[in-house]
Amino acid sequence: PDHVGILALEIVVPSTYVNQTDLELHDGVSKGKYTIGLGQERMAFCSDREDVVSLCLTAVSLLMHRTKTSYSNIGRLEVGTETPVDKSKSIKSMLMRLFDNCNNVEGVDSTNACYGGTAALFNSIAWLESSAWDGRLALVVAADVATYARGGARPTGGAGAVAMLLGPNAPLVLDRELRASHMADTYDFYKGDMGTNYPTVDGKVSIRCYFEALYNCYYLYRKRFLKKFADTDNTNTPNNTSPKSVLQHFDAIVFHSPYGKLVRKAFTWLTLHDVQLDAKCYEDESDLLKYVNSDISVNMLSELGVIKDTDKLFKKLTAPTQKLPKNIGNMYTASIFGGLISYLLSKPINEMAGKRIAMFSFGSGMCSSFYSITIRPGEKLETLIDLLQHVPVMLENRQSTSTVEFENTLTNRELAYNKAPFEPTSNVDNLFPDSWYLTHIDSTFKRYYAQK
Ligand code: ACO
Repeated sequence: PDHVGILALEIVVPSTYVNQTDLELHDGVSKGKYTIGLGQERMAFCSDREDVVSLCLTAVSLLMHRTKTSYSNIGRLEVGTETPVDKSKSIKSMLMRLFDNCNNVEGVDSTNACYGGTAALFNSIAWLESSAWDGRLALVVAADVATYARGGARPTGGAGAVAMLLGPNAPLVLDRELRASHMADTYDFYKGDMGTNYPTVDGKVSIRCYFEALYNCYYLYRKRFLKKFADTDNTNTPNNTSPKSVLQHFDAIVFHSPYGKLVRKAFTWLTLHDVQLDAKCYEDESDLLKYVNSDISVNMLSELGVIKDTDKLFKKLTAPTQKLPKNIGNMYTASIFGGLISYLLSKPINEMAGKRIAMFSFGSGMCSSFYSITIRPGEKLETLIDLLQHVPVMLENRQSTSTVEFENTLTNRELAYNKAPFEPTSNVDNLFPDSWYLTHIDSTFKRYYAQK
């Protein structure tokens, strides 16, 4: 099939959030630490009625409803998550309750920190392009509930699910042959302690891993890009225009977004490396060219001057991808797709056609990939964008919660973790219409859900 990619997207977030300014006060840190220092505005969190399964159920049922897709037309369903609720049974299997008698559906869950959604996406794209494909569509859901123990990492939590409908002749096409990965055995963030839902995290190491992965992935993507276009039309550009670096071919760069400040630094890191790889393409940019022989270290990225020198490019390429991540927090596997949705909502549709989007996906531990998407104009693009118009309204319709209630909710989640039977007590009225929610967990750990 041609033009395999994303036909439609749906995002679901909890109906409650906490303001990062309130949290700064509550935690007794200096004013601006979370909002300026980390670059975050609001953080979504789940009540005891919501969990990763309920978020996935809501995301899939809304996407199927809004796109008027029949469940019998889904041949593959995969979930990417690092919030498992069962060490054996997949969340995918829990979503099969939506499928009535349509049981011929391939796929299970993928797990590796924030990377599982990308792994699920790649698998489903591969299925669509393979001999196993039977002509039906694929569904991928990336979902997580990100919470940290009290301390410096807590404000970098979040929660949400993104569901994606995949198929041929899509408006968002994953570029073929253009992809690179960097995988290594690291212990920067992991969940080896089965007695808690919180990760063990070494924040500084995780940041170093993120930058190392970004450089290595981009370096390899760039090589593949140059080879592909050198092979096909003897130039290093797809459109035969004046020399551009590989990075300069993108109209947007979406990064996995644990928090805004990291994305801001990652953009700088990538740009400065690109200047060093392709200095001739930056001859008119004196602010950047001065870094051509600099030693680019992680510490250097905290210097305001360096960040400032990339401001103009950042505003154009990556700032438009940050609205959702800043307002929701880290959705782990879904975070990168929140960035993609932000970009799609940031421009009038007539400016979208032909745009090329870079995607950098990172999961601690570590798995990472750099890939790209090209936007195809047409009716299907209009439908895809139309279906996202409710997202800004939904974000504004959420309820702001006090920091005390936020803390209590997290403490109660800690106490309820791994407990059975369990009866949630929070009010279902607070959930968004049509939400799925947890009714109870019985004494044998079976989980029960209903739809509002
Ligand atoms: N006003 C403005 N800026 C401030 C203020 C203030 N009042 N106070 C501090 N800052 C700045 C700091 O200077 C620092 O800026 P810099 O990064 O440019 O140097 C920034 O705020 C953060 O301050 P730190 O003291 O470094 O923060 P802390 O060590 O408490 O925590 C961390 C940050 C490590 C990111 C922590 O939140 C964490 O561990 N998060 C989880 C791990 C994570 O998200 N890793 C990313 C990749 S892995 C993943 O996706 C899970």
